[in-house]
Amino acid sequence: MIKEKMLNALNEQINAEQYSSLLYLSMSAWCSEKGLPGFANWMYVQYQEEMTHANKFFKYIVERGGRASLKAIKQMPVEFDSILDVVEKTQAHEQLVTSLINNLVDIAVEERDHATQSFLKWFVDEQVEEEANVQEILDTLKLINGQGNGIFMLDRELRQRVFVDSTAATAV
Ligand code: FEO
Repeated sequence: MIKEKMLNALNEQINAEQYSSLLYLSMSAWCSEKGLPGFANWMYVQYQEEMTHANKFFKYIVERGGRASLKAIKQMPVEFDSILDVVEKTQAHEQLVTSLINNLVDIAVEERDHATQSFLKWFVDEQVEEEANVQEILDTLKLINGQGNGIFMLDRELRQRVFVDSTAATAV
C-alpha cells in the first residue's frame, strides 16, 4: 500500500498533467486561429501526450491500491502575444514539470518507496525528451527571427508530428 505523502503528491501530479494537456490544447486553438496549422497540430499532439501522462499516474495509483483523486483544473491562459510567446511558455512549463517530477522522486526516496522510484524513472527520461523537443523549436524560431517565410516552413514541418502513445508499451 502506498504511503499517504506519496499518494497525495502523485495525485497532485495527475492534476498537473491534466493542466498541461489543457494548456497545450488552448495553445493549439490559438495557433489554429492565427493560421499556423502545423504549430496547432504539434500542440494538439502535445495535448494528447499529456493526457496519457495523467492516465499513467492514475493507473499507477490504482495499481498500488491507492485512491486516485481528481481535482479542479485551474484556468489555463487563452491569449498569447506571438508564436514565440507560445513556445517560450511551453518551455517554461516543461521546466516546471521537470521540477515537479524531480520533487516526486525526492519524496519517493525519502519514503523509501522503491516501486514509485522505478515508476518515476520513465517520467525523468520523458522530461529530458520533452525539454529537448521544445528547445529545438525555440532555437529555430529565434533563428527565423519573425520572418514570415521561415515561420511558414517551420509550420509545415510541425504538421508532420503524429501522436504515438509512448506510455502504451510500459502501461501499468
Ligand atoms: Fe507530462 Fe510535458 O510533461
